[in-house]
Amino acid sequence: MFEIRDAILADQLTDIAGLPVPESYRAVLVRKDEQDMFAGLSANEKDPRKSLHVEEVATPELGPGEAVVAVMASSVNYNTVWTSIFEPVSTFGFLERYGRLHDLARRHDLPYHVVGSDLAGVVLRVGPGVNRWKPGDEVVAHCLSVELEDPAGHDDTMMDPQQRIWGFETNFGGLAELALVKSNQLLPKPAHLTWEEAAAPGLVNSTAYRQLVSRNGAGMKQGDVVLIWGASGGLGSYATQMALNGGAIPVCVVSSPEKAAIVRRMGAELVIDRSAEGYRFWRDEDTQDPREWQRFGKRIRELTGGDDVDIVFEHPGRETFGASVYVAKKGGTIVTCASTSGFLHQYDNRYLWMNLKRIVGSHFANYKEAWEANRLIDRGLVHPTLSKVYPMDQVGQAVCDVKNNCHQGKVGVLTLAPTEGLGVKDAEKREKHLTAINRFRGV
Ligand SMILES: NC(=O)c1ccc[n+]([C@@H]2O[C@H](COP(=O)([O-])OP(=O)(O)OC[C@H]3O[C@@H](n4cnc5c(N)ncnc54)[C@H](OP(=O)(O)O)[C@@H]3O)[C@@H](O)[C@H]2O)c1
Repeated sequence: MFEIRDAILADQLTDIAGLPVPESYRAVLVRKDEQDMFAGLSANEKDPRKSLHVEEVATPELGPGEAVVAVMASSVNYNTVWTSIFEPVSTFGFLERYGRLHDLARRHDLPYHVVGSDLAGVVLRVGPGVNRWKPGDEVVAHCLSVELEDPAGHDDTMMDPQQRIWGFETNFGGLAELALVKSNQLLPKPAHLTWEEAAAPGLVNSTAYRQLVSRNGAGMKQGDVVLIWGASGGLGSYATQMALNGGAIPVCVVSSPEKAAIVRRMGAELVIDRSAEGYRFWRDEDTQDPREWQRFGKRIRELTGGDDVDIVFEHPGRETFGASVYVAKKGGTIVTCASTSGFLHQYDNRYLWMNLKRIVGSHFANYKEAWEANRLIDRGLVHPTLSKVYPMDQVGQAVCDVKNNCHQGKVGVLTLAPTEGLGVKDAEKREKHLTAINRFRGV
């Protein structure tokens, strides 16, 4: 593995094809025999540091249409939080189901699950039938794994009946020294970014793009008022940039003065600190408080000069969904991709139907959307929001930070890269965007 890493560090990428692919590699994983380890505990008590391990695993056999990538850096997504606490279900069920699909898929059904849905690195080998990519290419990977054998997914690849999120519903994910991907997950690495910066946006940037910008999501247009929950978090930090780029008016919800300062640094002017303003949308576990929805809506109008919300960018779920439906304007859209605080939502349907609002479900991004989202990063129109980087050995702590909501933007993980700051190929372009790239660092 060191030979490969050293060749990459020395920029001897044409030599990569001549180096042997190691038979094993270090990876972040959960173990099947530990999937019940947190039984009986509340979500708060489940500690990813106990369930995530860094271990040596066998390199999987390379199949047609696939690529093995030497991973220089990866990042933490919330899906690894879910995997590490075995909620809402153990991800081994996904691997078992995938394993039953066909011979090659059977490789994924193992007693361990290598997690991670982002990477930046270098292609080591490609399988039969791969022409676009070759050993030595510097890449990032999006996390959409599809079989493409059913017409249902030929127009919008997210509609493939065998759609999976790589590193969550498949094995051999990106939090590792090597990763196995389908070659059509590969995208060019933006040359002005370091390995860890390039690995940060992938999953959340693509998700925010479909959810907010694409016609498959909310189809945001200029002048739209967009309410963004968690605006300094993983998804929100990209949604905020897209709203600002697209001429929309983001109303950014955050939970501390530090997070408010971050979204202001991105250029947002309308910011709500939900903690300081003390919204309590639920009176108790079963009862919401519509007066709090009204107070929240009034605050939004104060900030916008009287306008209501065209699009609500939803992901907290149960805790906020009633308020989100309420504050959307007549004909407005609530677009949701998650339920962090609980997936059984409750809202007053009278506000929805009488005011012709729409709730739109959104999930990751199709191939084209993922490509377009990466292009935004490549062109310096959207920037990585990396705040902190951990070595792979401390991945448990990195995942804890995200689980406990004490991070900003994205948390990076160095896998093969020995230090931060490596991998930049276009220094001039980097210089141009440096302030924006560093907006989240050290906070
Ligand atoms: N379907 C998909 O394709 C997809 C893709 C990516 C992520 N997701 C899901 O989306 C969710 C968010 O992901 P992320 O990467 O953005 O996570 P993140 O980095 O943790 O950011 C989420 C932000 O939401 C805010 N938040 C959390 N709980 C809240 C609550 N109860 N009420 C109001 N705001 C709350 C927090 O910001 P403040 O504390 O500052 O308000 C937090 O920073 C996760 O559940 C994840 O699994 C789904």
